[in-house]
Parts: sequence; C-alpha cells; structure tokens
Amino acid sequence: MRQMNQIPLAEPAPPPGLPAPQPEQMARSNALLGVLGHQIDAGQGFLRFDHFMRTLLYTPGLGYYSGPAAVFGGSGDFVTAPQLSPIFASCLTQQLRRWLAALPTEEQCITEFGAGDGTLAGQLLAAMGHEIGSYDIVELSANLQARQQATIAQLAPQHLTKVRWLAELPEQLNGVVFGNELLDAMPVRLFELRTHQDQVQILERGVGIERGRLCWQTQTAEASFDSAVRDQLRYATQGANLAQKFGSGFSSEYPEEALGWVASIALRLQRGVLLLIDYGFGASEFYLPQRSGGTLMCHYRHHAHTDPLILVGLQDVTSHVDFSAVTQMGLKHGLTLLGYTTQARFLMNNRLGEIASDFLEQCNDFKDRITHTQGLQKLVSEAEMGELFKVLALAKGDIFDNAGFISGDRTNRL
Ligand SMILES: C[S@@+](CC[C@H](N)C(=O)[O-])C[C@H]1O[C@@H](n2cnc3c(N)ncnc32)[C@H](O)[C@@H]1O
Repeated sequence: MRQMNQIPLAEPAPPPGLPAPQPEQMARSNALLGVLGHQIDAGQGFLRFDHFMRTLLYTPGLGYYSGPAAVFGGSGDFVTAPQLSPIFASCLTQQLRRWLAALPTEEQCITEFGAGDGTLAGQLLAAMGHEIGSYDIVELSANLQARQQATIAQLAPQHLTKVRWLAELPEQLNGVVFGNELLDAMPVRLFELRTHQDQVQILERGVGIERGRLCWQTQTAEASFDSAVRDQLRYATQGANLAQKFGSGFSSEYPEEALGWVASIALRLQRGVLLLIDYGFGASEFYLPQRSGGTLMCHYRHHAHTDPLILVGLQDVTSHVDFSAVTQMGLKHGLTLLGYTTQARFLMNNRLGEIASDFLEQCNDFKDRITHTQGLQKLVSEAEMGELFKVLALAKGDIFDNAGFISGDRTNRL
C-alpha cells in the first residue's frame, strides 16, 4: 500500500540552463501541483502517465495549453510549420482544393482539430475561403479558441462567418478533417519492459510523490494494456523475441488516446479525407532498441529536454507519432490509405518550388526575404522538419487524388 496525503509542496527550481519562470508562472505551476497531488492521492499514490499528461496540458486555466501563456512563436516555447512560413499553407491549399473538388458542394467542408493560435486556419481561409462551405474547428483549450478567433479576424476577416468552434465531435463528418501537430499533443501511456531470460513483463509507468516531490513509479500493467503493448511491439519487430530485441529497462509510449481519436473520426467520416501532419515514424523505426527511453520530449522557451516532472503546466510535453498504429486503426475502421510521405516531399509534390519563388519574388524587403528563406529551409531541410515530419492521408469513399504523395512514397515503412 502506498503512502497517502503526500501533496507535493513546491516546484523545484528548473535545472541550470533553463530560464527561471516568473513568480506568477510559479504560482500557477504550484496550483497545478496541488491538483496533481490530489489525483495521485486518489490513485493510492500512482497516477497513470496519460492522466498526468492530460492534467499538465489541459486543466482549465492551469494546463499548458489551457492557461494564459503564449506557447507558440518566438516569445513562446516552440514554433510550428504555419508560423514558420505562409508557404506551408499555400502548398496545403493545392492539395485541399483537389480533394474538395471531388466532393459535392454541400460536402466541401474543412474540420481542423487543434488549431493552435489559428495561423493555419487564417491562412487557409484567406487563400480558399470562398471555395468551401464551412470551416469547423475543434479545440480543447478555451484560451486558444479566443486566440484563433482573433487571428482569423486579422488574416481572413471576410470568412470569419464560415468558422464554427465545435464543443464536441459532430456525429457525421464530410470533406477534409485535418490536424497539424495534433496527435503529438495527445496524452500517451508509458510502459517499461522487465526481462528475465526470454520472458518479458510489461510495467506501466506513472507518477507518484516522494519526499514532497513528483517522482516516477511503475506498476504491473493491467491485462488489456499489457496485450496492446505486446501487439504493437510484435508488429514493430515482425514477431521478434521482445526480451532479446529490447532488453530490460526499455521504455516507450503507447498512444491510446490518439488511436481512440482516429477510430472515432474514421467512424464519423462519411466521405472525405483525414490528413495528419506530425513528427514521427512507422512502428519499426519508433520502437527501436536504440530509442530505449522512448520519444517523450518537453519544450520550454525553445529549450528541449526529457523531464516532464518539472515546470508543470509551464512546458509542452509531447511524444512522436507511431504512424503505423494510426494507419492500422484507420484501416480497421473503414478508411483506405491514400498516402504517406515526408513533409518535404509533400510540400514539393504540392508545387513548393513555384510557390516559393513567386512568394520570394514579391518580397521586397531584404530582411523579410531572409526570414522567409530561413523559414522555408526549416520546413524542408532533412535536419529540421523535412524528414522527421510526416504527412499521412486516409480516405473514406470515392477515390481521391493523391498528387501530394506522387513522389517519395513511404507507405512501405508503415
Ligand atoms: C502542438 S499544438 C498544434 C497547433 C496548431 N495545429 C499548429 O500547427 O500550430 C496542439 C493543439 O492541439 C490541441 N488539441 C490536443 N488534443 C486535442 C483534441 N483531442 N481535440 C482538439 N484539439 C486538441 C491543443 O489544444 C493545441 O491547440
């Protein structure tokens, strides 16, 4: 029996090299620690990591995405593709147009999940707002919803009336449903392997409290989680002996929430395309012995590190996407695979060259041109987002155009 009533007292100071939070940020973080302390107590000293991550990111008013902090952009913690360059949205527009053109007018709708600060929505609406019937946004954070509205009012005021913020998933979806860096922000369950000769035990990793501080805890995985993890690892290794392949101490993530989300979208999508853009790999690259600590990462004011137990509510916590698991779940629920490639290839297949040269030609200010060239470089460079970020399209219904995936096909890695 674990000890109860050990509410953590205070956030430890951030490690050297990370900027110190402001007093009001510390106060918010300590309030969130209080919430976590109660949840850990309620779980007899153990809080599953996915539940911990949901509290960190989405507690109203206190969570990372639900609090008042500016998470995106130079003054925040990280930047995403639409903030790097409007060329990202211009290329995406090419593909969206072709998909929507294959649908009857009343189904020419876009649903964006997790629209962040609204930059991409604003850019897409400015470019093609007159070609779509509606632009729906599903966003968990009320604070971000308000920011999205302000951004769209600035970038595409004439189309603001087409935008609706949905409080819950509609029963039926048509058109294009998409998320840029959505799945990486969904809570993940964590597991760890213990091996004894050829036998493997699956442990679930969670969070507890020790001497007034958050600490890692493990417990034996319940049967359904145990078998989901084993299935995923067997798929990734094509049936290899897990003890020999990974060894004791190997730990990684299992994207239960993301998979549940994909299943529910697949079931609701009547006709159209589900488009997901994110960092990640197919299962055989995701679950590698060399990646023995998994892919969980934290971002705090443009510093990346791996400790989610510090700076609670003040830093992003994210994991890479297992695109094989996502694809399998979509196929299981009636979707077909339209394409899977790297972000660089997807953008190039969508006229990146012409769009970029037109854009830069119209850019009169020398400094602006440098900034846009650097943004473009980040989007496609193999060392930045070009290779690590992938684009996956799954479809329901008619045969949809897959020109955005015409070269650089990676479906054999899924
Ligand atoms: C990393 S941000 C990406 C923001 C934006 N798409 C961009 O590219 O800048 C993740 C976003 O997904 C939202 N989010 C996470 N889970 C969600 C869910 N189940 N439904 C809707 N939005 C979600 C977060 O609140 C946040 O806006």
